[in-house]
Amino acid sequence: MMTVDAARRALAARFTAAGIDSAELDARLLTGHALGLELTGMVRAASRMLTSDEANRLNALADRRLAGEPVARILGHKEFWGLQLSLSPATLVPRPDTETVVELALEMLRENPARQGARIADLGTGTGAILLALLSELHGAVGTGTDISQEALQTARGNAARQGLADRTSFIRCDYAAGLTGTFDLIVSNPPYIRSGDIAGLAVEVRDHDPRAALDGGPDGLDAYRALIPQAARILAPGAVLVVEAGQGQAGEIEGLMAAAGLTPHRSPRADLGGIPRAVGARKMPR
Ligand SMILES: C[S@@+](CC[C@H](N)C(=O)[O-])C[C@H]1O[C@@H](n2cnc3c(N)ncnc32)[C@H](O)[C@@H]1O
Repeated sequence: MMTVDAARRALAARFTAAGIDSAELDARLLTGHALGLELTGMVRAASRMLTSDEANRLNALADRRLAGEPVARILGHKEFWGLQLSLSPATLVPRPDTETVVELALEMLRENPARQGARIADLGTGTGAILLALLSELHGAVGTGTDISQEALQTARGNAARQGLADRTSFIRCDYAAGLTGTFDLIVSNPPYIRSGDIAGLAVEVRDHDPRAALDGGPDGLDAYRALIPQAARILAPGAVLVVEAGQGQAGEIEGLMAAAGLTPHRSPRADLGGIPRAVGARKMPR
């Protein structure tokens, strides 16, 4: 028998011993999940005894985490740009690094003469993370998310509805931009960009829990950019913007693909918190 707080601390110690970097946070989130409590509820419950049902639930969650399942998968949701997004086995867990794509897209869109009602497309939308973050900032905008996975699109639709954005979004199953019609003011994408040969060496949290279709970028990691950049260039309006996420060391080659498609790369890629050039932008210059 132990108190809620002692159980949380014991779990954090087990996670630390297992080499989990985010041991304290993971222990707090999983304890809260097992007890059905938010942070303030956890503080209030800290000194009461854990029931045996709660202890069993917590142990089961701990075993999953110790076997390499990410906390977000266990909880079934992840926060991105302040939005709580549901996950499914067909969706990537949105990463904090991807927020740099949102930041650069907003910056480049604002450099254009102010436009109301921007049309946005998010190619390979997954949970809808990038699209929904942008729409939460751009109140007159509308957007379309595409994905090759029908199940991911179902998850994205649910997320849009929960964020009150259903009437400004549509979701289409197609190869990147192939099914889109009309022109767009902003196209964003975080496509699969891991080299096929590197996937086996990824952390178990990613390799065994993110869908392969969300990771595998082909032999050199650039297959998706080769497909989507020319597609996007054709449907950007004059003056419109393309922003994509880049894997480490890929920004220069992506800028080359953008230039080859007739786009003008932005001043410089935007770095993530680790200093890695992460968001690469380009504009379709008006003729
Ligand atoms: C790295 S995940 C990014 C998901 C989401 N945009 C995010 O940033 O969290 C890449 C997404 O591209 C989708 N995808 C893979 N190949 C695709 C294709 N040929 N056409 C459209 N989407 C594709 C995957 O299903 C996955 O949802």
